[in-house]
Amino acid sequence: KDRGELRILENLDELSTDLADYISELSEVSVKERGVFSIALSGGSLIGLMGKLCEAPYNKTVDWGKWYIFWADERVVAKNHADSNYKLAKDGLLSKVPIVPSHVHSINDSLSAEEAANEYEFVIRQLVKTRIVSVSDVSDCPKFDLILLGMGLDGHVASLFPNHSVLDEKNEWVTFITDSPKPPPERITFTLPVINSASNVAVVVTGSSKAEVVHLAIDDVEADCPSLPARMVQPAKGKLVWFLDMPAASKVDGP
Ligand code: 6PG
Repeated sequence: KDRGELRILENLDELSTDLADYISELSEVSVKERGVFSIALSGGSLIGLMGKLCEAPYNKTVDWGKWYIFWADERVVAKNHADSNYKLAKDGLLSKVPIVPSHVHSINDSLSAEEAANEYEFVIRQLVKTRIVSVSDVSDCPKFDLILLGMGLDGHVASLFPNHSVLDEKNEWVTFITDSPKPPPERITFTLPVINSASNVAVVVTGSSKAEVVHLAIDDVEADCPSLPARMVQPAKGKLVWFLDMPAASKVDGP
């Protein structure tokens, strides 16, 4: 198992700066190579930790007009609902920088979970055809330039929860669940094949409460360790980076 690169930062302020540097560098590389940057967001504390992107120098140096924005997972609620990952990102980030509104690919909130997942996959297929989103050379999956993930206390990433059957999904790009152990129950989510086809995947985790699950997700642990979704984030060709603050990294094995 490739544990990826571990970036362990002294505190939340340093983590935010490092994360902003990382995202702006990837954006620059993608825009130079492909003319666009396809980035998928998640919910949770991640968006707040991305806040430095709205400040100098990033707010001026990032080529915001070239960003195409997606969600690795979304709760099936109205876009203006407090539980919406879209609303979280819009309020915390997207409304503060000059993003092109038509490049923001949020999930249709007027559909059922199943319909919304199917429609979202269709939208991504269209954008793969025009190469706004690249295509993987190892699978037929989309290859996002960057997928950003948080990790829950139970080791879930996106809306891929431990022991859930969607962890076995091999064909769909976007799927849905109606039994999320964490409310709200209905969600749509990228599948593992899509996450693992990305060019870059970053998992951003902070706080001492996550230290044990970070250790279980990253380190070589006994084989009887429960299969953690975060442990299954193993990009085939892409680069994996864990952004951790010191408390979250406190139980990680040495290099
Ligand atoms: C959700 C959350 C969730 C979140 C993780 C980490 O949909 O339930 O968005 O997936 O990303 O639980 O969240 P924190 O970083 O806020 O702990």
